[in-house]
Amino acid sequence: MKVYNNILETIGNTPLVKINKMTKDIEATVLAKVETTNPGNSVKDRMAVKMVEEAEKQGLIKPGGTIIEGTSGNTGMGLALVATIKGYKLICVLSDKQSKEKMDILRAVGAEVVVCPTNVEPEDPRSYYSVSKRLAEETPNSWYVNQYDNLANREAHYETTGPEIWEQTDGKITHFVVGVGTGGTISGVGKYLKEKNPDIKILGIDTYGSVFKKYHETGIFDENEIYPYITEGIGEDILPKNVDFDVIDHFEKVTDKDAAIYTRKIALDEGIFVGNSAGSAMKGILQMKDMFKKDDVVVVLFHDHGSRYVGKMFNNDWMRDRGFLEEAHKSASDLLENHKDQPLVTVGVEELVSHAVAKMRQFKISQIPVTKDGEFVGLIDETALINHIVDNEKVKDEPIGSIMGPKLPIVKPSASIKELSKLINKDVPAVLVDLGDNKYHIVTRHDVISAMA
Ligand SMILES: Cc1ncc(COP(=O)(O)O)c(C=O)c1O
Repeated sequence: MKVYNNILETIGNTPLVKINKMTKDIEATVLAKVETTNPGNSVKDRMAVKMVEEAEKQGLIKPGGTIIEGTSGNTGMGLALVATIKGYKLICVLSDKQSKEKMDILRAVGAEVVVCPTNVEPEDPRSYYSVSKRLAEETPNSWYVNQYDNLANREAHYETTGPEIWEQTDGKITHFVVGVGTGGTISGVGKYLKEKNPDIKILGIDTYGSVFKKYHETGIFDENEIYPYITEGIGEDILPKNVDFDVIDHFEKVTDKDAAIYTRKIALDEGIFVGNSAGSAMKGILQMKDMFKKDDVVVVLFHDHGSRYVGKMFNNDWMRDRGFLEEAHKSASDLLENHKDQPLVTVGVEELVSHAVAKMRQFKISQIPVTKDGEFVGLIDETALINHIVDNEKVKDEPIGSIMGPKLPIVKPSASIKELSKLINKDVPAVLVDLGDNKYHIVTRHDVISAMA
């Protein structure tokens, strides 16, 4: 029988998978170390086991004790598995920025979850660093893991993740790319790989709002670099002991929006359903593409599973609320889809205003382009029309030309929603789309708003 004695023995030996579509503009081979096949669905299982085993060796935790950790979720999941198998209790302290799914999953695997505010200083007694420490002091027979400064974290990657990548690539790896949070993954893997081949470049992915890149490049811990961000799992407002800046060659920052968009792209283009830091890492690779040559072998590590982000990066409403959805790819011709079967209604400049009113009623429309000799010369708009009629009832019997407003801008069918929304404003209620062969159609303010909703 081929069996594992318990679930912890299934950790590691994760697959290395070639990235194809997303890297079509990169000549180098890009391979993803997909850590979702670990039992806790993230790379963090590896270091969770190692940290607990080290604590046991050092007598820091005794049977029946309580493990306490300030974790963004994945480490908590790994610790929960270890705690269950080894008979410990677990309290996880999370910041309120973390996804609800992560919190629910932790509770499902038996952890007690304590939630703290994100936007407070690390020294603030409400911060999740401070709360974790306080709980550890107050709970008898407890051990505070501290994944940031506990060096067993990076050792786990030195002992397992690094050697796996080296063996899976037959030593051909030239670059290792990974998101940096506690620094355990990059530092452990980076140290191992550089010992094997000092030419291998170790590239860290950072977020805007984090201190890593500037500190690495200047040695300055700049508090101005710190501000709230959305990307999960990477970037810090502290310098964890696990970050070994000496093994890191370069930090690349990726925006929250790009990280979110590329998280979705990995699932859609490659069929690999992974988390937000993977999206950040993939975008980082594309930003750094000039660093890679044809024969290079770039390995990127995907930390965790996409299921933890279904209420966030994989949710259209969540993405739209933050302006992360790429609506701009919709064009004027997409917006015409809904009414392309109806003809464009126009009125001649010599027709009476009452004709325009009748047409607006008949076709239930709010504006009509005005033509003269087949050319667009103006516009009759509902609001302006009402104002004229209120001022002077008799205007209905005058020619349209006497009261019309300026003609509408004309765009190509390929004009993006962004371009349309720049043209449409309180004085310009619509644009005309030039369909060729002297055919035109209209896109109104209402069409643009509906497409964005
Ligand atoms: C989703 C995710 N990505 C990236 C990281 C960063 O990894 P490390 O802490 O090893 O630097 C973490 C760590 O918390 C994570 O949970």
